[in-house]
Amino acid sequence: MKALVYHGPGKRAWEDVPDAVIRDAGDAVVKVDAVTICGTDLHILGGDVPEVTEGRILGHEAVGTVTQIGPGVQRLSVGDRVLVSCVTACGTCRYCRDGAYGQCLGGGGWILGHLIDGTQAEYVRVPFADNSTYAVPDGVTDEQMIMLADILPTSYEVGVLNGTVQPADVVVIVGAGPIGLAAILTARLYSPSHVVAIDLADARLEAARKFGADIVINSTTTDPEAVIAELTGGLGADVTMEAVGTPQTFELAVRLVRAGGHVANIGVHGAPATLHLEDVWIKNLTITTGLVDTYSTPTLIGLVSSHQLDTSPMITHRFGLEEFETAYDVFGNASETGALKVLLTARGG
Ligand SMILES: NC(=O)c1ccc[n+]([C@@H]2O[C@H](COP(=O)([O-])OP(=O)(O)OC[C@H]3O[C@@H](n4cnc5c(N)ncnc54)[C@H](O)[C@@H]3O)[C@@H](O)[C@H]2O)c1
Ligand SMILES: [Zn+2]
Ligand SMILES: [Zn+2]
Repeated sequence: MKALVYHGPGKRAWEDVPDAVIRDAGDAVVKVDAVTICGTDLHILGGDVPEVTEGRILGHEAVGTVTQIGPGVQRLSVGDRVLVSCVTACGTCRYCRDGAYGQCLGGGGWILGHLIDGTQAEYVRVPFADNSTYAVPDGVTDEQMIMLADILPTSYEVGVLNGTVQPADVVVIVGAGPIGLAAILTARLYSPSHVVAIDLADARLEAARKFGADIVINSTTTDPEAVIAELTGGLGADVTMEAVGTPQTFELAVRLVRAGGHVANIGVHGAPATLHLEDVWIKNLTITTGLVDTYSTPTLIGLVSSHQLDTSPMITHRFGLEEFETAYDVFGNASETGALKVLLTARGG
């Protein structure tokens, strides 16, 4: 079979690899019908995730068709259409019993395209397949479903639910990449009074408006603190979300929140950020962080299949699997190509 293989920082190729096969009783092999690329894959290619070793097939998001099941698989059958989640769950460890699958101690968590071969391939082996896949409801397309593999549950759980967005809240989202945009989309489910998006790129802010932000701020030309102060009578936002992953944007999210408010960090950070406790100890803040657990995936599937949530505007570019290298070029140059998420589908799929 063919797959997108990581060959060390900056190097990747769509090439022949051994076929995906069942190894453990709970495994399934899934034929990949639709797959995408995540910002995290670019971090891996940048050499930021050293646990990813040379020769690893990348990718942790897919929709596909089950082609083989191990003898221990109970819920899946060959031919089933499934969502392959970015988080794998053993289902029995202390964290899985709590729904905190991202922290799985039994061999799950974020492993696909990280610690084991991933989804950017014609076929993928999915461990603990009963707990790590979701049936695709009739009437839901592969391209609607693929956004539920990673970005929607991430933004919803780590941003909106951790931030406890309430009706009439002023919600500020720093960063309008795919994660920030998905946070706008899912914050809207709670009828906030305003959703404010902050970014450096006008193209991303235009997208933020389409996804439901009613105020957008380009922080290279406009001071977000002044805008939020005016909007809230000097109070600050009820909820701020950090969807970039830099010290400056985390510190901005903390400055923009009101006393008693919530700061939900979604970004993956590679450098220390300063928490100005000398200023904020008095503000009764709740600050949350987290890796996605994907416990909300069934809820999000319900919202998509009942047309309460439309994820399709997230996909800006479409390719065949054999065009994987071009898709990486387009996704990796988002500032020039305007890419949000790219969709790759099997020929005829
Ligand atoms: N917590 C999790 O489980 C989880 C899961 C997936 C991704 N993430 C993280 O979420 C973050 C966002 O992901 P993404 O795919 O949307 O990334 P992205 O790089 O596509 O988007 C980031 C956006 O932030 C903007 N930006 C950069 N610097 C800024 C600044 N100083 N002020 C305002 N905006 C700025 C960029 O213009 C861009 O639009 C990343 O750190 C990613 O690793 C976290
Ligand atoms: Zn991802
Ligand atoms: Zn577990």
